[in-house]
Amino acid sequence: MSETDGGVRGRDFTGYRIAGALSALLFLVLLAWQVTVLFSADSTVQPEAAWRVASEGAGDAGSGTLASEALTARTRLLDERFRTGPSPEADAPEGALSQDFALEQTPLDDGAALTRAWSVPDEDTAAMMHEPGRVEGISSLPYSNAALYERPFARDWRLGMSDVITHMGALAILGMAFLLSAVLALRGRVPIRRGKSGRSVKRFGFVERATHWLTAVSFLGLAFTGIAIAYGETLFVPLGERAMGTLGWWSTWGHVLFAPTFFLGLVVMAVMWTGRNLPSKLDINWIAKGGGFFSDDGPHPPARKFNAGQKLIFWSAILGGLVMVATGVTLMFPFYWLDIGGMSWAMLIHAAIAVLLIAVFLGHIYIGSVGMHGAIHAMWSGRVDRNWAEDHHELWLREEEPAEGGAS
Ligand code: HEM
Repeated sequence: MSETDGGVRGRDFTGYRIAGALSALLFLVLLAWQVTVLFSADSTVQPEAAWRVASEGAGDAGSGTLASEALTARTRLLDERFRTGPSPEADAPEGALSQDFALEQTPLDDGAALTRAWSVPDEDTAAMMHEPGRVEGISSLPYSNAALYERPFARDWRLGMSDVITHMGALAILGMAFLLSAVLALRGRVPIRRGKSGRSVKRFGFVERATHWLTAVSFLGLAFTGIAIAYGETLFVPLGERAMGTLGWWSTWGHVLFAPTFFLGLVVMAVMWTGRNLPSKLDINWIAKGGGFFSDDGPHPPARKFNAGQKLIFWSAILGGLVMVATGVTLMFPFYWLDIGGMSWAMLIHAAIAVLLIAVFLGHIYIGSVGMHGAIHAMWSGRVDRNWAEDHHELWLREEEPAEGGAS
């Protein structure tokens, strides 16, 4: 064996570790900022137009104030249910107060009054305890959704979209970026244990690589444009309203344009690689040993063409991607086959799976590039160093070697 680059001990990845430490610091600051936003009193369910109307006015002062009041009143409807009252769709809570129950203000000056005050709910609790009310009637408008006067689920939907998924998504993406940076700083790159041998073995053919990059570029295009759509207000408005308008326009169209190539890539990937990604007993051993990721001393757990970690990536791409495409197409054709409830769910699922996939694929991109020495060649030239193959895909190398002749 020739050790052309010195192996585990000879190889110095200090530069990578410093870069990892610096980016870990950056992502830590961004994470801290995100946590502060999460716990700040101002909830993101407030429409931002309200404060703009209030602070800038709408031409004359009178209508500006009125519009602001109307928006503020409307905002209460968009707030969490425990603040805005019961859902007409829900059953009356046990012990519900009748609709015409009136709040009493009782001074706390003697014991009896104190007891009564204790049993008289405050405004929020009283609202919650009222019987659910419902306004019903018929509409002659041709557009079915126009008959919808108030939709309590919309408040949950808005809370889910604007608060839960937006914040959890930011935490997942920034958290994963921090974790990967910290791993690079503390653990360094995964080296080729015995260094490069100088002999390569073919790993992926042209069609496999072309399909991979078609899917990868489309995914990245969808991720960036999706992030611009979801987080544009935070990320781009500080650059100016015009920048936001332009980026928003490009992102909305770009998001739709990247979808067909992503889908095509997924289908070809599924045809090429499903057989090699079916679960096997080797995967249990591979997972139990953490893929050999945490130690450079012993041999890595044996794997065929794809190890358990890669199978996880493959199935995330295929299954997650199909859910994204199905919900995405649904959103492109609103109300064609789903009603407003179904559309709300399609949007929630689309957003939730999107942020999860971005976090998962950050991990994949990391390990396929800076995280592991020698990995990127598999998808770039299609050939990997023999010692790399022995480290990570020993059983696959044994299958390939007779045909390959071991050298190039
Ligand atoms: C810049 C981004 C990316 C880089 C640098 C990258 C790198 C790589 C590399 C080096 C491999 C081969 C690993 C091996 O030899 O075993 C690979 C495989 C693969 N990639 Fe990527 N990739 C990227 C983005 C993506 C994206 C966005 C997707 C899907 C949405 C994807 C899906 C896959 C799949 C399914 C495999 C085969 C299974 C696996 O090795 O995990 N890749 N990638």
